[in-house]
Amino acid sequence: MHDDGYEYFAPPEPTTDEAGQRDEPPGPTPIGPTRRAFLAQTVAGGLSLAALEALAPEAALAHLGLPPEAAPGGGEAMAAAEHTARVTLSVNGSAHTLDLDTRVTLLDALRERLQLTGTKKGCDHGQCGACTVLVNGTRINSCLTLAVMHDGDTITTIEGLATGDELHPM
Ligand code: FES
Repeated sequence: MHDDGYEYFAPPEPTTDEAGQRDEPPGPTPIGPTRRAFLAQTVAGGLSLAALEALAPEAALAHLGLPPEAAPGGGEAMAAAEHTARVTLSVNGSAHTLDLDTRVTLLDALRERLQLTGTKKGCDHGQCGACTVLVNGTRINSCLTLAVMHDGDTITTIEGLATGDELHPM
């Protein structure tokens, strides 16, 4: 290893051509840093990134004139509140008021918030029909519509078609 942290190929032996002229070999060729130099550079780079990640939010807040309490997590909460809407759905005869992310599909609201898992998530692309529900009496694919678009609507799922303990043929 040389002082620069690189290893070099051993120089090739000089050769002579047909005329007896001696060809000078090229100088040594660097093949890259040694394993030790590479690991040292990698560790130093990783520590630098970790330090930047820890310091950056506070520096940014100070630059904006905000208190340190507004640190990480605060921004996420603000973004979450920005995308939340209160939605009232009448599902199978019961009214439900939900605070939903505005990007949640009707299918996910029914399955994950109201635990009405009779409505299935098949393709999630409007192709299979497994997520079909009735909205105000009209059949739709609930995977293709946002829950916030149905504020105040009447929704009937497969559970709503059953009468008591007797399942609907569907
Ligand atoms: S999940 Fe397939 S159409 Fe909605």
